[in-house]
Amino acid sequence: MNNMPRKTQRLTDAPEDIRRAAELLRQGELVGIPTETVYGLAADALNGAAVTGIFAAKGRPQDNPLIVHIASFQEWAPLVTSIPPAARMLAEAYWPGPLTMILPRSDLIPKEVSAGLDTVAVRMPSHPTAQAIITACGRPLAAPSANRSGSPSPTTAARVLEDMDGRIAAVVDGGPCTVGVESTVVDLCGIRPRLLRPGGVTLSMLEKVAGAVEVDQAVTGRLREGQRAASPGMKYKHYAPKAQVILVKGAAEAYRRFISAQTEENPDGLAALCFDGEDLNLGIPAVTYGGREDHAAQAHQVFDALRRLDEIGAKKVYAACPEPDGIGLAVYNRLLRAAAFEVIELDG
Ligand code: TXA
Ligand code: MG
Repeated sequence: MNNMPRKTQRLTDAPEDIRRAAELLRQGELVGIPTETVYGLAADALNGAAVTGIFAAKGRPQDNPLIVHIASFQEWAPLVTSIPPAARMLAEAYWPGPLTMILPRSDLIPKEVSAGLDTVAVRMPSHPTAQAIITACGRPLAAPSANRSGSPSPTTAARVLEDMDGRIAAVVDGGPCTVGVESTVVDLCGIRPRLLRPGGVTLSMLEKVAGAVEVDQAVTGRLREGQRAASPGMKYKHYAPKAQVILVKGAAEAYRRFISAQTEENPDGLAALCFDGEDLNLGIPAVTYGGREDHAAQAHQVFDALRRLDEIGAKKVYAACPEPDGIGLAVYNRLLRAAAFEVIELDG
């Protein structure tokens, strides 16, 4: 029933609406839920048929596994076969919060969740509404970001409806997400922790607790032909608006000169995605996404900015590139994929 056209209920975070959302989830329905990172498209993680509905609603490839969301530490152990010391320390330091850990999965995890892998991704979100829904439901929830596959992740309930209205049973409005980019994904199945996707828990935060962390080359690099992705969702193009995006690396003044040179050639359909205060006199429509030095604001705004570029009719977007430090690494990682790795490096 999950992918039949239907009326999507708009729910609030009031207690009776949380109960309604939990009831729908227990019946195997799909519900858009707020988290501190991005909105998730949730289903009962222990119900394989419900989880199949997520893939249909998103148009998501079946080989891309899902994150299982829990609301308490007791829910963790049954989902995995072991919890190494580094995982326990990371959980104590950063859960609830924007951190996902990959561990060997237990037999409780349906194959639909793990996409056939022998591991499972688990995260404990800090958003009070997400916690209340998981608790009321009494089951862990599988939830990818609530966008159609390939599109920028939604950070408000209205953005969820843009992609999912008529495809899911309900969406719970918990206000705008605070972090704005998806959780950090760390693989704890090897000798050393391995960062697969950067997010709100930064590399230095991980290393402070767990010692040296390897960074998967897919975090900042393109997979080579035929190479297997450690995290299937970190493949080539993702998070992309309809417009073509090109990432432009360089200082503010070099970026401005570059844009004016492009504008002289052919300004039709060109738009800029740039930092606050750097959008004046560019000669083309511009959308900003936080200050050049303010990585938290960039993370908070980047996905909405990508969607706004489509709304203003942009065809080709020159995106000013953030510094890959702290949570800036997560913003850089998402923009690289939005740009399908097309990068221009300016001098000076
Ligand atoms: O912040 C988030 O993590 C959000 C909110 C809703 O919690 N969820 C989210 O889910 O971003 P999704 O499905 O859009 O991204 C999950 C990422 C994908 O890159 C997927 O390939 C990876 O985690 N992943 C999931 N299970 C995995 C596993 N067993 N091994 C390796 N990567 C895994
Ligand atoms: Mg996603």
